[in-house]
Amino acid sequence: MSVLITGGAGYIGSHTCIEMLDAGYDVVVIDNLYNSSEESLRRVEKITGKSVKFYEDDVRDKQALEKVFKENSIDSVIHFAGLKAVGESVKMPIAYYDNNLESTISLIEVMKEFGCKKIVFSSSATVYGVAKEMPLKEGMPTGAINPYGRTKLFIEEILKDLYVSDNTWSIVLLRYFNPIGAHKSGLIGEDPKGIPNNLMPYISQVAVGKLEKLHVFGNDYNTVDGTGVRDYIHVVDLAKGHVKAIDYALKNIGCEAINLGTGKGTSVLELRDAFVKANDVSVPYVIDPRRPGDPDEVYADATKAKQLLGWEAELGVEEMCKDTWRWQSNNPKGYEK
Ligand code: NAD
Ligand code: WQD
Repeated sequence: MSVLITGGAGYIGSHTCIEMLDAGYDVVVIDNLYNSSEESLRRVEKITGKSVKFYEDDVRDKQALEKVFKENSIDSVIHFAGLKAVGESVKMPIAYYDNNLESTISLIEVMKEFGCKKIVFSSSATVYGVAKEMPLKEGMPTGAINPYGRTKLFIEEILKDLYVSDNTWSIVLLRYFNPIGAHKSGLIGEDPKGIPNNLMPYISQVAVGKLEKLHVFGNDYNTVDGTGVRDYIHVVDLAKGHVKAIDYALKNIGCEAINLGTGKGTSVLELRDAFVKANDVSVPYVIDPRRPGDPDEVYADATKAKQLLGWEAELGVEEMCKDTWRWQSNNPKGYEK
């Protein structure tokens, strides 16, 4: 069985390549390397002892996609490719709509042309918008508060419409919470360009000495210690969720939105403290004003994933911290030589 993984050289994609290869799938990757390096795929091959067929192309390019489908017998697709920085999406919304929507439409058209109708899409907890209650359940109202989130919401709607128009499709919309951590080998991990926007890479770059101190965005939220609470999920657990989602898609038709989270919330200071303790490192911090738009708490109801996919997160915050640090300390410059 061959799976096409768009954006497979990226952070979540590379970890998913490993789990799919380990589960016995042949893996074909298409990635334009806009936010990643081919080195991640070489390391995937080193870890698994298996090869990945790689196409350095843009998913918006239909001819390139047609070539991939002609040269490989693709049974299903995991669609990670996309731009993902919230702040950047506010500054350049059209680039986000162009990249994220255009790539999905080209992909669906080519899949249809080749009779491949099984797709797992990387959605996000951001599609719940400003939620009135926690935990977040799949049936709750959706909304978007920035252009990035709107691309995810629009794509979910496009895929739902596609299923209504042709119910032979099998579509799984995976709504990720906050993925952190890295593969146990320390060979692959998150390699953000420039100064990280997200909390965990910021913490680990302070610990390794690349950044001076952590800026905690607000300590007056309605939470356990006043700092923002999120549902952090180990990227390897997340990757395993994709194997289960593809197994499910191969056996069922339908269009299902499914949360991938742990169901547990951790505050900014709890995560910082856990990182210091797990790795015996120093992470100095200051309290800064709130980051506009940040909610107090976000965490998942993870029961649907357990019921439908037979998946639940296994790794805790301590492993997330240890594994992030192994990657960061072994590769202080990421994939850069
Ligand atoms: P990433 O940037 O590491 O990976 C995305 C990959 O897609 C990159 O390798 C990039 O080069 C590639 N890409 C982007 N546009 C492309 C295009 N037009 N054609 C070909 N390749 C293209 O990001 P990630 O953290 O691994 O996220 C993967 C997916 O999961 C994204 O769709 C993201 O929106 C979604 N997601 C991420 C998070 C998170 O916090 N990391 C949370 C929820 C959802
Ligand atoms: C976590 C907490 C911050 C950085 C984002 C996207 C979301 C999804 C995942 C893709 C918050 C605080 C952060 C820092 C801090 N991505 N923080 N100092 O905002 O929950 O989610 O990534 O779909 O769409 O919005 O994650 O890691 O940025 O923030 O204090 O330097 O850490 O205020 O409470 P977020 P994050």
